[in-house]
Amino acid sequence: MKVFGRNLEPDHERAMISWSPFLIALLLLMSIPVVFVLAPRILPPKTMPSIPDMDEVDDLALFRRATLASAGGEGGRGGAGIRRRALSPPKIAFLFLTNFDLVFAPLWERFFHGHERLFNVYVHADPSAELVLPPTPSFRGRFIPAKATQRSSPTLISAARRLLAAALIDDPANAFFALLSQSCVPLHSFRFAYHALLADPGTPSNLPDGRRRRRSYIEISSKDPWMWMRYVARGDDVMMPEVPFERFRAGSQFFVLARRHAVMVVRDRRFWKKFKMPCLKSRVDSCYPEEHYFPTLLDMQDPAGSTRYTLTRVNWTDSVGGHPHMYQPPEISANLIKELRKSNSTYSHLFARKFSAECLDPLLKLADSVIFQD
Ligand SMILES: *[C@@H]1O[C@H](CO)[C@@H](O)[C@H](O)[C@H]1NC(C)=O
Ligand SMILES: *[C@@H]1O[C@H](CO)[C@@H](O)[C@H](O)[C@H]1NC(C)=O
Repeated sequence: MKVFGRNLEPDHERAMISWSPFLIALLLLMSIPVVFVLAPRILPPKTMPSIPDMDEVDDLALFRRATLASAGGEGGRGGAGIRRRALSPPKIAFLFLTNFDLVFAPLWERFFHGHERLFNVYVHADPSAELVLPPTPSFRGRFIPAKATQRSSPTLISAARRLLAAALIDDPANAFFALLSQSCVPLHSFRFAYHALLADPGTPSNLPDGRRRRRSYIEISSKDPWMWMRYVARGDDVMMPEVPFERFRAGSQFFVLARRHAVMVVRDRRFWKKFKMPCLKSRVDSCYPEEHYFPTLLDMQDPAGSTRYTLTRVNWTDSVGGHPHMYQPPEISANLIKELRKSNSTYSHLFARKFSAECLDPLLKLADSVIFQD
C-alpha cells in the first residue's frame, strides 16, 4: 500500500499540474458565450437607443412607394403624374413636424385662406403625444402615419422623410416641400411666399429640353465650430467611406426642398445607413443628426441644386442647450416681423421660429396689417 501510495502520489501530482491549465482554459472558453449574452444586460449600453427594426421595415416600404410614385423625377414623368399635373398648378406641401398642439393653426389658416388649390398640409406627430388636430379646413384629417421621435436620435430624420414620402405619394402637383414645426410662423402672405418659390429662375440643367431646375432652400455650411465633434458623435471612423469629414455639412433643421430633392432624400439608402447609427452616450451633446443628414446628402449629390440658405429665420443669440431664442408676447411688434424678414442677401425670410404659444394673439393682431401685407 505504502509503495503504491508513494508511487501514486507523484503521478497524482503530475495529473494535477497538467490538468489544471487545461481546465482553466476550458472554463474560460465556456464562459465566453455567457459573457456575450449577459454583458449587454449587466453593463449599461454605450449608445443611445437605435431605430426599431419594425419602423425601418415600414419606412422602407413607404419610401419605395414614394420613389415609384415619383418615377421620372421633377416634372413627374410617371403617367398619373403628368395627367394630374396638367390639371393642377404647382403646389407647396407644408410639412408640420410636431409633438405639440399646433397652436398657430389659426394664423396658418389665415395664411392659407383663399389659396386652396395651391397647397397641401401634412402633419407628423409622435403617436404617444396623442395630439388632436385643429378642426380647421387646412389641418383637419391631415395626419400621416407617424412613429415615435426624440431629440439626439435619427428619429427626427425619419419623421421628416416620412412627411416627404407621404406628400410625394399624395399629390404629384406638390412641387416644393416646406418642413416646419409647431413653433414656426409665417412672415409673409401666401401669395408672396408662393411667388418667391415658383418665380425663382432655378439652376441650369443638362436636361435635353434645357429646362432650368428648381432649387432647394437649405442652409449648407462647413464652418460650424463643433463640426468634428458632431462628425464623430456616432463613433470614430464610422462615417467612412460614404461620408469623409471634408464632405460632412451642417445646416438648418427646417428647409424647403424642390420635388427632385424630396425624391432624392426618400430614395437614399447610402447616407441613411450611416446617419441612422445611434450616437455614443458619451457624445450625446454633439448629437444632432437631423442638422447634418439633409445638408450633407444634398451637397454631395447635387451641390449646385440648393441656395445654401434657409428661408426660416431663427435667433441663436444666447441659445441654451441647443434651443434657440423663444419669442414671448412683449417682443411681438411690426418691427420684429420686419427685422426677421431681413436676410444678408437678396431674398426675404418666409418663416420664423421659435414663438411661444402665448404669441398667437399678438401675432393675429398683426396678421392683416403687417404679416400678410407685402
Ligand atoms: C434675438 O434674441 C435675443 C435674446 O436671446 C434678443 O435680445 C434679440 O433682440 C433677438 N434678435 C431679434 C432680431 O429678434
Ligand atoms: C448676417 O451676417 C452676420 C455676420 O455674418 C450674422 O451675425 C447675422 O446673424 C446674419 N443675419 C442673418 C439674418 O442671417
